[in-house]
Amino acid sequence: MDVAGFRELFPPLNEDKSPVYLDNACMTLRPINVINAIQDYYASNPSCAGRSVHRWGMAISQTVTRTRRKLAAHIGASNAREVIFTPNATHSINQVAAGMTWKSGDVVITSDREHNSNLVPWLQQSASGVKLQTVKSQPDNQFDLEAFEDACANAGKSLRMVSLVHVGNLDGVEIPIAEATKIAHDHGAIVHVDGAQSAPHIPIDVETLGCDLFSFSLHKMLGPTGVGALWGREEILSQLEPICAGGGTVEAATAEHYTLRSIPDRLEGGLGHYAGICGTEAALDLLSQYDMRDLAAQEVRINRIMSEGIRHLPGIEIIGPQDAALRGGICSILLENLDVQNVGILMDEVGDVFVRSGLHCVNQWFDARGIEQGSLRASAYAYNTEEEARTFVDTFNEIIDGLTE
Ligand SMILES: Cc1ncc(COP(=O)(O)O)c(C=O)c1O
Repeated sequence: MDVAGFRELFPPLNEDKSPVYLDNACMTLRPINVINAIQDYYASNPSCAGRSVHRWGMAISQTVTRTRRKLAAHIGASNAREVIFTPNATHSINQVAAGMTWKSGDVVITSDREHNSNLVPWLQQSASGVKLQTVKSQPDNQFDLEAFEDACANAGKSLRMVSLVHVGNLDGVEIPIAEATKIAHDHGAIVHVDGAQSAPHIPIDVETLGCDLFSFSLHKMLGPTGVGALWGREEILSQLEPICAGGGTVEAATAEHYTLRSIPDRLEGGLGHYAGICGTEAALDLLSQYDMRDLAAQEVRINRIMSEGIRHLPGIEIIGPQDAALRGGICSILLENLDVQNVGILMDEVGDVFVRSGLHCVNQWFDARGIEQGSLRASAYAYNTEEEARTFVDTFNEIIDGLTE
């Protein structure tokens, strides 16, 4: 892909002294068309969708409908009504976990390397008698399909839900969702996929994955903060109790009763984030001009340079498989004898390199290994250049040399 041309679209990367931005697993930067779309909404069309019938209201209603269709297309969903706007992936997952009707003894299965957003909402359901089971990954953090199949079989008829991260934010490792889904369905479970780190980076086709529900966030895929999405099969979404009911969700209401609208409205309570939806459309328009496989390949190219440039250092361990191609754009580094936060600050001070340090909300993985401080995570997006990857390597080497000499 034309990385230089792509990069030009991002104002924060075209300043006199732009940093080397490698915190993309947290959030990506926004291209100029997204920034303009948000501004245009407030400047030219600041109105409310689905309610007001004046020109501004009708225009934003059409934008919402179009954007829903584009979101569906981005993940290979054929029915746009099955896409719900949410504030973020966390809200999407909470809507599923708290919106289901549980029976005491129901089992939910996840993996041992889930983001807290795909852990805590299920743990909260323990109050309803739900039992959460986590499947241990293999030593190199790849998914253990056999252990997963055993867990499904052991849960027997109690298995209600399987909820797995598609691509881990800890290490970039992908779970073979299509295989896992098949196993889970054979055992009668509904399958939810946390796609927060996959939808931004690799082609997604929910029909090929076979899953029933898919959550993701726009701020990790060139879009604004405060916009996420939940896709799900109509028969499942229609059974969920809204966790945020009220304006926009009801067909009728009296002082005593209400009847909910059909999807998507029933799960989109209150006025929406319309500026964010305008920005979302712009982000999807830009992404649709690229082949997601090219974006992924560029990120692996960057990760290879980063991984190969640091792995020889003493006291350094990269989390996950050796091969960078199995970790997408993520290089997550355990530091044996050094303070991770300190190294994160020095990366900025010494080389203008922005990385993330800490637990990355995957507390359970670090807790199981007795690692309190977490890791240093560099995460690439397709606008990162090979030169930036080399700056990361040089800066990291310089800091480690300086701190360990
Ligand atoms: C794998 C994964 N799941 C869920 C989330 C939560 O996303 P959000 O903050 O958009 O709710 C994140 C955010 O980093 C993530 O990486």
